[in-house]
Amino acid sequence: MTPDLMEAGAKTRAAYEERLASQQGKTESGGRRAGYGRLVKLGEPDFAHGVALYLEDITVSFDGFKALNNLSLEINVGELRCIIGPNGAGKTTMMDCITGKTRPDAGKAFFGSTIDLLRLSEPDIAQVGIGRKFQKPTVYEQLSVFENLELALSADRRVRASLFHRLTGLQLDRIGEVLTLIHLKDEAQRTSGLLSHGQKQWLEIGMLLMQDPKLLLLDEPVAGMTDEETERTAELFLSLEGQHSLVVVEHDMKFVDQLTQGRKKVTVLHEGSVLAEGLLSDVQNNEKVVEVYLGR
Ligand SMILES: Nc1ncnc2c1ncn2[C@@H]1O[C@H](COP(=O)(O)OP(=O)(O)OP(=O)(O)O)[C@@H](O)[C@H]1O
Ligand SMILES: [Mg+2]
Repeated sequence: MTPDLMEAGAKTRAAYEERLASQQGKTESGGRRAGYGRLVKLGEPDFAHGVALYLEDITVSFDGFKALNNLSLEINVGELRCIIGPNGAGKTTMMDCITGKTRPDAGKAFFGSTIDLLRLSEPDIAQVGIGRKFQKPTVYEQLSVFENLELALSADRRVRASLFHRLTGLQLDRIGEVLTLIHLKDEAQRTSGLLSHGQKQWLEIGMLLMQDPKLLLLDEPVAGMTDEETERTAELFLSLEGQHSLVVVEHDMKFVDQLTQGRKKVTVLHEGSVLAEGLLSDVQNNEKVVEVYLGR
């Protein structure tokens, strides 16, 4: 690409951002008032109350069968919450509702205190800062690890809006940071198709991280991983805790134990509702929980 084309791209982007800022009322003193005298931009989530995700009485029916049944759940900003529960408990359906893939029949779902998720489309939900990892890794196999991360960066609407986008120093730094986090620094130039299953999973998590989501939803992230990969994944999630909120659905109790470190609460779902909440050691000894797992 010639330098003048790149410059044209940069100008297009600057103009776009200016327009966006003026639409959002983001001026020197701009912004929208959001309680307690705080200012938040229109469409920006507000986390001042410390809640990242709020679900209240969510119900989802499939032909009369309630996959979710008055499900209520609260995840705090920066919290790492593990969700467990037998097959068919509604864990994936819950993620489908949060990400706009499935519309509940009833209930409330808020991201922060201002964003009503039930009014947003699936792409808009991703754009406001909710990233989701499905079970099967979906990386671009022909591209290198680096190129996959670069592509994830350009999925950002603001970057895509510029016709000719070139990586800025900051973006290169971010790719470097993410490569370190996901243990793939030495594989940056490797074709992604050649990575192990676990490495592909990490790359996909890295692609999510490029968007800097406030909330990350991870559905069975260590399924199919070796023990060592599983342990490294736990370390990765623990390093993300605090900066992101994480909701991790897993059947692997050793992994859940590693993530909760004996002090974080886990949520047990069963038949579309919360059956129990508490320390892993406590819920594992909870009679109701033992019953649903053993199917008695
Ligand atoms: N699109 C759908 N149509 C009909 N029934 C569905 C649909 N999606 C999910 N279900 C049903 O809803 C229930 C909850 O499914 P869900 O996939 O959320 O469970 P889960 O807790 O994720 O289970 P697993 O641990 O096996 O992944 C199941 O009985 C499932 O068969
Ligand atoms: Mg599932």
